[in-house]
Amino acid sequence: MSIPLDVTVERLHDPRALWTPRPRYSWTVPREPGSRPPAQLAHSVQVREAGTGRVLWDAGRVASGEQVLLAHAGEDLASNCEYDVQVRTWYDDGSERTGRSRIGTSLLHPEDWNASSWVEPVQEPVTPDGAERFHQMFSWRPQSAPEERLHPPLRVRQVFEVPSGVVRARLYATAQGVYAAWVNGERAGDEELAPGSDSYTSHLSFQGYDVTAALRPGTNVVALEVADGWFAGRVGMFGLSREYGERLRVRWQLHLTTADGTTTVVGSSAAARSGTGPIRYSDLAIGEFHDDRYETPGWDRPGFDDSAWEPVRECTVGTPLVPFVGEPVRRVAELPAVEVLTTPSGDRVVDFGQVIAGRVRLRTPGGGARVVLEHTEVLDARGEFFFNLFGPNKDQTDVHVAGPGGPRWWEPRHTFHGFRYVRVSGLDEVRAEDFVAVVLSSDLPQRADFASSDPRLDRLFQNVVWSQRSNFLSIPTDCPQRERLGWTGDAQVFAPTAATLAGVGNFFARWMANVRADQRPDGAVPNIVPWPPALEYLFGEPAPSYSDDIMVLTTSAAWGDAVVLVPWAVHGRDGDVGILRENFEAMRRWVGFQTEQCRILPERLRGTELTAAQRERQDLLWNGVAAFGDWLAPSTLTVEGPTAMMEAPRRTGEAVSAIYHGYVSGILADVARLLGEDEVADACTARALAVREAVAAEYLDERGRFSSDLQGVAVLALHAGVVPERLRQVVADRLAASVRANGNHLDTGFVAVPFLLDVLADHGHLDVARDVLFQDTYPSWLYEVAAGATTIWESWDAVRPDGTVQATSYNHYAYGCVADWMVRRLGGIAPAAPGYRVLRVEPDVLCGLDHVRVHVDTPYGRAESGWRVSQGALRLELTVPAGCTAELVLPPELTGVQVRGADLLAPGAWTGLAAGSYVVTASLAAGTPQPVGKCPGDRRPLCTSEAEEVLEEVAKSLCRAVT
Ligand code: BGC
Repeated sequence: MSIPLDVTVERLHDPRALWTPRPRYSWTVPREPGSRPPAQLAHSVQVREAGTGRVLWDAGRVASGEQVLLAHAGEDLASNCEYDVQVRTWYDDGSERTGRSRIGTSLLHPEDWNASSWVEPVQEPVTPDGAERFHQMFSWRPQSAPEERLHPPLRVRQVFEVPSGVVRARLYATAQGVYAAWVNGERAGDEELAPGSDSYTSHLSFQGYDVTAALRPGTNVVALEVADGWFAGRVGMFGLSREYGERLRVRWQLHLTTADGTTTVVGSSAAARSGTGPIRYSDLAIGEFHDDRYETPGWDRPGFDDSAWEPVRECTVGTPLVPFVGEPVRRVAELPAVEVLTTPSGDRVVDFGQVIAGRVRLRTPGGGARVVLEHTEVLDARGEFFFNLFGPNKDQTDVHVAGPGGPRWWEPRHTFHGFRYVRVSGLDEVRAEDFVAVVLSSDLPQRADFASSDPRLDRLFQNVVWSQRSNFLSIPTDCPQRERLGWTGDAQVFAPTAATLAGVGNFFARWMANVRADQRPDGAVPNIVPWPPALEYLFGEPAPSYSDDIMVLTTSAAWGDAVVLVPWAVHGRDGDVGILRENFEAMRRWVGFQTEQCRILPERLRGTELTAAQRERQDLLWNGVAAFGDWLAPSTLTVEGPTAMMEAPRRTGEAVSAIYHGYVSGILADVARLLGEDEVADACTARALAVREAVAAEYLDERGRFSSDLQGVAVLALHAGVVPERLRQVVADRLAASVRANGNHLDTGFVAVPFLLDVLADHGHLDVARDVLFQDTYPSWLYEVAAGATTIWESWDAVRPDGTVQATSYNHYAYGCVADWMVRRLGGIAPAAPGYRVLRVEPDVLCGLDHVRVHVDTPYGRAESGWRVSQGALRLELTVPAGCTAELVLPPELTGVQVRGADLLAPGAWTGLAAGSYVVTASLAAGTPQPVGKCPGDRRPLCTSEAEEVLEEVAKSLCRAVT
């Protein structure tokens, strides 16, 4: 008997609250050791209503090898129902397989919300707070302590009767605020910070929970606690409160089904009562204050005397409710405290050894103890607690006041912080075992791993994984501490890496709904999604002028382009055409916006007389609007003063915008082609070609020099196909020479860095790419590792070579895009066709490492590549999952190459490797230049023991604070 197929629905196993009536089905064939996976010839999908067995869709036997995201083509699934999916497959060796999944649907239509009201507890409106304008950020002073400005989260309870014989109960709930829900004292679901962050001006997500086990016949209670959250709490750069509203509200419906299929619905109504509890305030960024003395035991169960509580008011909220899409935020891991430090000035600091997004669970000694926990990501050069955030309302401080009882564990509920270190006050004795760091993240499946003979690279890879984990928290954020905003540029540059490392298809699909919702009527895509209402004034009325400097905050090249590039990245790694279709119109409007904005001349040309040819060229160049350019390119950060950050925009903004317009026009052409929109495809192709030529004519001279000499412009231009064929190699050679002249250091910012190593390698400079990767002095990836980083920093110089620790973010994923290179080019697993249907296996076996092993859980199953070079011989083990083929590309320096699957393959027949396992053996040709030791400054890969010594030194230096 073969192992059953692994069937998923919208990428989830047995989804409990599926958000769509027409889902997509996928399956993988579990590996059966030793055997060659057969090729799928046909499949059938059948969907039945659970219980009755009524068939909604029977696809019949379809002759096809497809197995990823097959669209439901039968009767729509109904709301709040259960379905059984059965998949059957036939293979070329005569075998068959089957697999199943169970679906529970959410409430799929707005009219399903017909048995409840929004309810608003009696409350003080949320206090206006934070800076209203950019410049006020630097002068903002809180008027009073948080406990005087913030109000307690609200508790809402409602009692109702349940008939006997209920076999299925689903609670659907949401809030304006963030909430947790209970049924008879049992927590509903394991989601955190529900309903999640959305563009609340356009829609609000709700959750669906299976609460069958918590219900009993007779009197029952649904209870919710709601805190300020993203809706009314202090968020973003400005720490501004009340972004979407000043009053917290909740709404829920409980759908009860009895054995005979009858469903009754109970919903939030004026029957609810509200009060407050031990949480005196809770804010995402300020933190949570919990005072046990205010506990109201039993409030979430029947029998509680709520006569002193207040009635609630039924009210109307116009925002459409939508079922939550994808994987929710959960508590995904726990980290024990590594040690307790005493800083030179006597602070007691708990070190968790890892920068995370989450919160601390504390064992309080009880007896009225008041414990204060302050969170930060770094210690300064002297080992003192260093608060690395600036701007209003970013306290990241939790307070717990214990009741008279004994010790107990406590964890904040409606907040999270970005931290590694916690300064503790209020305890006589600070013991590591009394602290646990709880990691919060959208609960996405990890898809890739990397291990090599150089532990510094392994650490780098893990740093990227951690930065993704911390910043994929409901929406893709820039950082989990300072701004926590959905900066579109950060998401875009990291999206391909994100999709390599984790299953992000649903996560990005949900965020893209927000991107579409926030797109401006003129097609502009904001730099931040959800777009903060407080920044709305920046767009101005009636027609914004995008050439004003301040407009750099509203929309920018490489930021707004997320609308095209994020779906494109998901399609590339997941084979998901749906996300392209869903966003196609928004992409077109964005590229249309760019085209329209081309009429704005750059400042240097305004008021000058242009020739007809110049005019024609300028009409193709999106270069007169404010833009971030190659943001934070390191050599621009040496400029003194507060304008340093704007130096990269000043020097690269114009060219980067112009290049990006050509680049995304080309990608939009590809998307249109794929969707069968040939007219659009033709128009975009023509536009892309014309733009690229115009960019080259405007910014590139015949010697291959760009008007901006920063590396990023050349990198982008090469990647975007802007450089005419005759100059490509010259430009690439210049770029390589500039890296060499810079002591093998990169000088790229957020926007160019994802392409740097590929561009070098693809133009004959793989050696330079390697040297940049293995570089360990500033600025470089391994410099961060050597400085003890456990996540990716916002700025290459977050810790300067002289040890100065800067007030910047230590958890920004943008530069983490190198992890994608490590998987693709060191390990050798890259998608050569969408969804890895064809793998390109081109491991850099001559990079100087002894060994590398990577895997990627592709939509078809796990692809693996592991190689080792020892005594001049290579051994590569490769697994191609069922449903995929692979192209194997090996360097010419190898001789005697043998590729063995079930049998020995004919020499050179390595382009269409079928699914299965292979072993490749070869010798390094005599005289093969070895990269080891040849780089200037001895920037070479380290062997395991050397690297461990380095890491040990790093660890020691991290502990320098301990005196
Ligand atoms: C954020 C970035 C963002 C940028 C815009 C910063 O404050 O943290 O990551 O993309 O602003 O340039």
